[in-house]
Amino acid sequence: MTLEQEIAKRRTFGIISHPDAGKTTLTEKLLLFGGAIQKAGAVKSSKIKDHARSDWMEIEKQRGISVATSVMGFNYNGIKINLLDTPGHQDFAEDTYRTLTAVDSVIMVIDCVKGVEMQTEKLMEVCRMRSTPVICFINKLDREGQDPFDLLDEIEEKLNIKVRPLSWPISMGKTFKGVYSLYEKSLKLFTPSKTTVEEAIEISDINDPVIDQLVGENNAKQLRADVELIEGVYPEFDVDDYLSGNVAPVFFGSAVNNFGVKELLDTFIKIAPTPIPRETTLREVEPSEKKFSGFIFKIHANMDPKHRNRIAFLRVCSGKFERGSNYTHVRQDKNIRFSNATAFMAQDRETVEEAWPGDIVGLYDTGNLKIGDTLTDGEKFFYTGIPSFSPEIFKEVINKDAMKTKQLEKGLIQLMEEGVAQLFTFELGNRKVVGTVGALQFEVIQFRLKNEYNATVEFAPQNIFKACWISSKDQVKLQEFIDSKQRHIARDKDGKLVFMAESKAWLQMVQDNFPEIEFHFTSEFKETPEALNQN
Ligand code: G4P
Repeated sequence: MTLEQEIAKRRTFGIISHPDAGKTTLTEKLLLFGGAIQKAGAVKSSKIKDHARSDWMEIEKQRGISVATSVMGFNYNGIKINLLDTPGHQDFAEDTYRTLTAVDSVIMVIDCVKGVEMQTEKLMEVCRMRSTPVICFINKLDREGQDPFDLLDEIEEKLNIKVRPLSWPISMGKTFKGVYSLYEKSLKLFTPSKTTVEEAIEISDINDPVIDQLVGENNAKQLRADVELIEGVYPEFDVDDYLSGNVAPVFFGSAVNNFGVKELLDTFIKIAPTPIPRETTLREVEPSEKKFSGFIFKIHANMDPKHRNRIAFLRVCSGKFERGSNYTHVRQDKNIRFSNATAFMAQDRETVEEAWPGDIVGLYDTGNLKIGDTLTDGEKFFYTGIPSFSPEIFKEVINKDAMKTKQLEKGLIQLMEEGVAQLFTFELGNRKVVGTVGALQFEVIQFRLKNEYNATVEFAPQNIFKACWISSKDQVKLQEFIDSKQRHIARDKDGKLVFMAESKAWLQMVQDNFPEIEFHFTSEFKETPEALNQN
């Protein structure tokens, strides 16, 4: 097959949701359709169910599960689908943000009872930064949920994206009858079952009395009224509006009952984008360029502390990746040969000889690779759009065993390279502060430092509200600012200057007092999403 044909065959996407909306269940059903697993229950939930009861085993299990199910490749109707898993637990949101940089589109699961929840809003912000096309799957229709029109309004309002229903539910909860596909003009009747797949009943005319026979007169009447309203209110579905990230098509179903999932998958492979061109520091790179390039979006440490090698997850962006070839590690300006490369097919890992744009390859690494690194076939550019976001919780690292300072430094650097958290080193006194999205990471870091590096640490809470990357067109003013705010200036992992603001009000005041200084809320400046700034 040619490079173009390989590209046309691929769809690389992620499923995102607020915990408990049904991401794991939907993933499992999709894998069943792909023949990647044989029976329900094979996909373990990658979430830590009860935060309070989380123990070390739980954390280790989480790491184990997350590497096993991080990427699930499967074939469906001649299409190679790469599904990238995102951690359900919100404390691992940073990991999810990074995974979203490696996908070309997203399916967003929303619980029809709970509607749009906080985590979904944040994840949508990240999608919007990159104009990632989104399909919404409104789940759990077998429960008494909110009115579907209200749900659509809520999505538009809270997620700030236009929607276009492509299917429509007929009643809900105990009286749920099924969905009408506005796209295919067919009816699917609901029977609660975990395995069977509903047959579509073709309906050429919405006024066909057969609908009354199948779902009852009242439901049929309601459906006709709803469809009329939808056709009147929402413009015709235009796939380009979806591909540009402006309109999210919406499906309704029940993942646990395997209802509406096949329809979602069939439409997904029809409309979801093939691997897209990506921005670099030099130019936009087309997937169809002959020369290989890609970037690292995730690093996973070996679970066995005696073996320090790690798996780096490479997203192939252009050309063909070949095992055993020499590729340029742009940041280190050197050539590396990857003789050990892994493909992810469902839950099996197998050695990969070649990979194509959209594919994810696992590279065994002994410490050369960091998240965000670019590999190319010689050309010197970096993929952009893999920013760090300001963490939400900050704690100073207190070394409790001075004899193990070296191990601690090494451990901290390696854990940060894996993206477990962000490290900020204060200019004054060399204080090291770790920033995370959730509280759980501190437990993970403390445990892993002890277990893998024999270093003992404690964490001291810090009065920090936000880490703001700073810059200025006027270098003199920037230096003046640094001098006057010395106690609050740190460097991130790449040595970039960061201002550690103590509170929202204080940050506002400092911003007003120093108009020449630009404050950024992600490490890549031009792409600051407003909503992420506000929290
Ligand atoms: P997550 O990965 O997004 O966190 O959600 P997950 O799939 O684990 O689903 C959360 C809960 O919602 C699970 O129940 C799951 O069975 C249930 N669920 C998923 N889809 C549907 C649906 O269409 N209808 C209904 N009624 N429930 C659904 P649980 O009790 O937490 O776990 P389990 O013991 O059932 O596995």
